[in-house]
Amino acid sequence: MLSARENKPYQVGILTLSDKGAAGLRRDESGPCISEMLKEAGTDRYQIVLNLLLPDDRSGIEAALCKLCDEEKLDLILTTGGTGFSMRDVTPEATMAVAERNAPGISEYMRMQSFAVTPKAMLSRGVSVIRGKTLIINLPGSPKAVRENLGVILPVLPHGLDILLGRDGECGGR
Ligand code: MTE
Repeated sequence: MLSARENKPYQVGILTLSDKGAAGLRRDESGPCISEMLKEAGTDRYQIVLNLLLPDDRSGIEAALCKLCDEEKLDLILTTGGTGFSMRDVTPEATMAVAERNAPGISEYMRMQSFAVTPKAMLSRGVSVIRGKTLIINLPGSPKAVRENLGVILPVLPHGLDILLGRDGECGGR
């Protein structure tokens, strides 16, 4: 029997990084796409606590990530955008700057699966890391890329989160 704490949905923050989006010059479709996918995966499983839209400013992204990990104590932060080669794309650098541990397999798997869809997958520099008990995962910035990347990791995420949160020590079903 699970305790009330173990039954609690994962507390999730969605962070969209886009200069144009933050300036109101482009409608953000990637953040809502993540929300939709998490809702489909189950509102009893993922609770979206906040949804932020910030410009591609490294110090601002770092400050937001630290606050969401250290003060809001979110279980999972999904970022979208800012992972490419433009000089304004700094999401991976901001994420690595706040990282305490690396979780490269998540990004490796997303890229590997994305190659079946487009070779442009190699242009995403997204990373996955852990700070405290928060898992931070960078996704690319289009709704299509969000679907193709988040879609392949969703089946495994709960197991990783349960281990991170100390809810599950068993690694069954290998
Ligand atoms: N991954 C998947 N699965 N599907 C895509 O369409 N787009 C790529 C890549 N990863 C893409 C993808 C492209 S074109 C770019 S430039 C990079 O993600 C970086 O995107 P970002 O700068 O919006 O984060």
